[in-house]
Amino acid sequence: MNRFWKNSVMMIGLAGLLGAGAMHAAGTTKGGSSTANAAAVKRGKDVFQQKCSVCHYDNSEQKKIGPGLKGISKRGTFSVNGNKITDESLKTWIENGDQLMPPFKDVLEPNQIKDVVAYVKTL
Ligand code: HEC
Repeated sequence: MNRFWKNSVMMIGLAGLLGAGAMHAAGTTKGGSSTANAAAVKRGKDVFQQKCSVCHYDNSEQKKIGPGLKGISKRGTFSVNGNKITDESLKTWIENGDQLMPPFKDVLEPNQIKDVVAYVKTL
């Protein structure tokens, strides 16, 4: 048993898990795009954990370095500027940041920003 095989088996297991998760989420809504959306949310969660969670909680409204993001979608507005929460406003915010939050335009791929927006909207 070499490392290649071990890794392959792990990857297949992981793919199975991810697939099952996406199917499950897709089952709750209808239409083909929900599967894609579930996958985006999942990728966005990874991005969040790597790039955003140092400064933001995703499971609390408590401030870390930046405001906790839990409930941001339900609230419907940014606490920092009162702007409406939309795909577009989140994207612009994440791309540019402000005096206190670093911009992510040059750190993340456009697709990763899209994914993390999808994730933030589920919080
Ligand atoms: C270095 C710390 C830092 C990182 C990393 C960071 N942020 Fe922020 N973020 C902040 C700060 C600080 C604020 C508040 C800015 C202000 O008050 O002007 C903020 C505000 C926000 C807001 C507005 C919240 C509200 O209630 O108005 C969102 C949404 C947000 N960040 C998302 C993200 C996402 C998504 C990422 C990862 C791609 C991220 N942030 C990475 C520090 C950070």
